[in-house]
Amino acid sequence: MAVSAFDVQRIRTDFPILNREVRPGILLAYLDSTATAQKPAVVVEAMDAFYQKYNANIHRGIHTLAEEATTAYEDARQKVAAFINAANAAEVIFTRNTTESINLVAYTWARQNLNSGDLVLLTEMEHHSNLIPWQILAAERDVRLEFVPVTEDGLLDLGVYRQLLGLSPKLVSFTQMSNVLGTVTPAVEIIRLAHDAGAVTLVDGAQSVPHLPVDVQALDVDFLAFSAHKMCGPTGIGALYGKRRLLESMPPFMGGGDMIKTVHLRSFVPNAIPHKFEAGTPAIAQAVGFGAAVDYLARIGMQTIKEHEHAITTYALERLEEIPGVRVIGPSCDLKGGVAAFTLDEIHPHDVAQILDTYGVAVRAGHHCAQPLHEKFGITATSRASFYLYNTTEEVDRMIDAVYKVKEMFA
Ligand code: ALA
Repeated sequence: MAVSAFDVQRIRTDFPILNREVRPGILLAYLDSTATAQKPAVVVEAMDAFYQKYNANIHRGIHTLAEEATTAYEDARQKVAAFINAANAAEVIFTRNTTESINLVAYTWARQNLNSGDLVLLTEMEHHSNLIPWQILAAERDVRLEFVPVTEDGLLDLGVYRQLLGLSPKLVSFTQMSNVLGTVTPAVEIIRLAHDAGAVTLVDGAQSVPHLPVDVQALDVDFLAFSAHKMCGPTGIGALYGKRRLLESMPPFMGGGDMIKTVHLRSFVPNAIPHKFEAGTPAIAQAVGFGAAVDYLARIGMQTIKEHEHAITTYALERLEEIPGVRVIGPSCDLKGGVAAFTLDEIHPHDVAQILDTYGVAVRAGHHCAQPLHEKFGITATSRASFYLYNTTEEVDRMIDAVYKVKEMFA
């Protein structure tokens, strides 16, 4: 099956790791990009160049290296802001990852604005990182939590969502793409309805920003959280986008160097955004790598990447569903991104993943940090294949062949 005009073999040459053998004669088929994506050489080289040529701390020195490092760090912010079409780079805060970005909102905006009895509206398909911060807040403040249900087909029940909005939530926080079902949620509509009901919105973009064109101004979202490592960038850095008005009204998250304008023994004046939220020496090399990653993705084009993944996912779902005993959870391929989570007969997903690994096929098994969602589907775990710009139909075929081997072994 032709996947698209996109030259995936050319793309693969950008990722040296894809040539590795996981054991002699067994080539890697990396189908776990939802956990973390592989990095093109340009990203590794950009970080290497930082350490080899201009490593210095930022916003503190006036020597040449400090200025070069500061410029590179702030350039990376500009690139990330442009990638999501933020109106201003100051609206992009560098954090450690999506989890920290969501926690930043929970510990600052939410603790400033939510009190006993206030409602936070989530969904049943959230990753733990968009559940636990709100559970902690609920326990501390008696804030109420409600959940938009997930249907049998793996979609959000928008009828119930509309009803829940009648309870006047203060915050609606939801994923734009489920890391298990792959469901792409109708974010524009969810946000518009939330705003009509007077709620602030937070989108978990951990899976959407790496795989779809995401435009914060078109979405009109208030906060968007995402991670570099899932979008060809390094681990250790992520971002929180927030509307300027909101970020300016929020108290700092952590205290320390760089987040202040002036300090006295008993008081301080916080810095302007984005620095107010970036206490201490940040992940400078990682920011440089993040900038290189968004340059790389933008050069290829997010629409092109989305179309390639759609073709691979369509093919993978067709082939998986041919296998007796396979149950894929989630909606049809037109409503989802590049994720295929499945169960196979009564075979434990960890056994499936382990046997697939002996054939070089890397998939994740478990509840994928979405235990309540698995409970909803009456299962404890799934095997999950996930796809990115460098995956091929041949790799899907290798996975399918390996799944048949698993069935033979357990027959
Ligand atoms: N959130 C990541 C995943 O789904 C770790 O695998």
